[in-house]
Amino acid sequence: MKQKCYQGMKFRPYIDNARIHARIAELAKVITADFADKKPLFVCVLNGAAPFAVDLFRACEDIDAELTFIRLKSYEGTGSTGVVKQVMGLGENLENRHVILVEDIIDTGNTMVKLLSQLRALNPASISIATLLFKPEALQHLELKPDFVGFEIPKKFIIGYGLDIDGLARNLNDIYILDEE
Ligand code: IMP
Ligand code: MG
Repeated sequence: MKQKCYQGMKFRPYIDNARIHARIAELAKVITADFADKKPLFVCVLNGAAPFAVDLFRACEDIDAELTFIRLKSYEGTGSTGVVKQVMGLGENLENRHVILVEDIIDTGNTMVKLLSQLRALNPASISIATLLFKPEALQHLELKPDFVGFEIPKKFIIGYGLDIDGLARNLNDIYILDEE
């Protein structure tokens, strides 16, 4: 694996695709056991979670499950609240469904907290959180506890396997970390 360069910044290899897939297989084993007979609905948060959500969903082939996609619309708030996020594109009825919310990364947790409150209002039977990456040191909502975590990582900027820098690098098959040297 070579170094990658975006916007004059260097990124070095961090988690390779084989390790990502080995971890996904482990998570799928737990999800398969926990959700047998519950017909969970995987809800992928676009765009970043797409590769992870699809690979995780496919790794759960031994249970009945459904997959859908939502997108968060961000816009600048008028006051100090900053960016407000609104769910777009959820066609499914969540009532009495077991939802597995699939994210690429939980950083401050702001996105996930807002998303959870919007989805809870739709009366699902349960909501679980699966995130490929988790930065515990960056978390601002200590009540937020992801159920399925691929990798806990330090508070550093990473790209690849869905994670972007200004829209680019999502197509990298491995995960890279910003080289701060
Ligand atoms: P939050 O701070 O938990 O709300 O994270 C919001 C969003 O920031 C995530 O869904 C990602 O799209 C983005 N993000 C956070 N950390 C990184 C990173 O290291 N690389 C790329 N995107 C990131
Ligand atoms: Mg994201």
